[in-house]
Amino acid sequence: MVSCECNSKQGSLTTTISENEEIEIFQISNRYYEQEHEELPQELFEGNARWVEQMHENDSLFFEKLTKGQNPNYLFIGCSDSRVPAEQILGLGAGDLFVHRNIANVVNLTDHSLNAVIQFAVENLKVKHIIVCGHYDCGGIKAALAPHDHGPLHSWLCEVKEVVDGNKAELSVINSKEKRMEKIVELNVIQQCKNVMKLNRVQKSWKKYGIPHIQGIVFDIKTGQLIDLEIKNSKLYDEIKESHDSEL
Ligand code: CO
Repeated sequence: MVSCECNSKQGSLTTTISENEEIEIFQISNRYYEQEHEELPQELFEGNARWVEQMHENDSLFFEKLTKGQNPNYLFIGCSDSRVPAEQILGLGAGDLFVHRNIANVVNLTDHSLNAVIQFAVENLKVKHIIVCGHYDCGGIKAALAPHDHGPLHSWLCEVKEVVDGNKAELSVINSKEKRMEKIVELNVIQQCKNVMKLNRVQKSWKKYGIPHIQGIVFDIKTGQLIDLEIKNSKLYDEIKESHDSEL
């Protein structure tokens, strides 16, 4: 016999579950577990086995080197889109890239997860570059422009909506809808680079040690190529220093 306390609309109740019911609940949950287990996609483990073999073939000390720790030069902030695999599009591998991805590669200053990633990347890993990578045909950017409410996604994409609102004049002269969307992707990357520079830890490190360099790039899904938006730290700093100088 087990008893559990639960809240119902009538108030707090104590419910007693019989032994038979307890056994039935156990059997049901066990069945679910077994079903889940059966559904685990074997192709992932097979893919992993192939990868392990390939890594061994390329370098017999590969995994031994990984156990020594990580020392990546780059923090990559990209979109969660499955078509933008960070390491692959940069020709890099395990140990080369510290990665954070979210929908539409947004740098939201109240995002604890991203703040923690940036702090660790700057203060512990001492990365030389923070790369903000957008991509054309970004579903997050399209969703930000849609008039209807997307729930939590809607508030997440406010940052992108502000990019659109803040660049209305520049966007209004672009007639092609596709080109306008591409421009928004680029402007969004530039804005997120500015947001990176607003962070105290980034600014202080850059002023003291000259790193990290903030880089803005766009991945063109149609060609696979990267476009360098030629971001400069000094320019970013000039644009945000009045309200976000770390020494004020
Ligand atoms: Co995207």
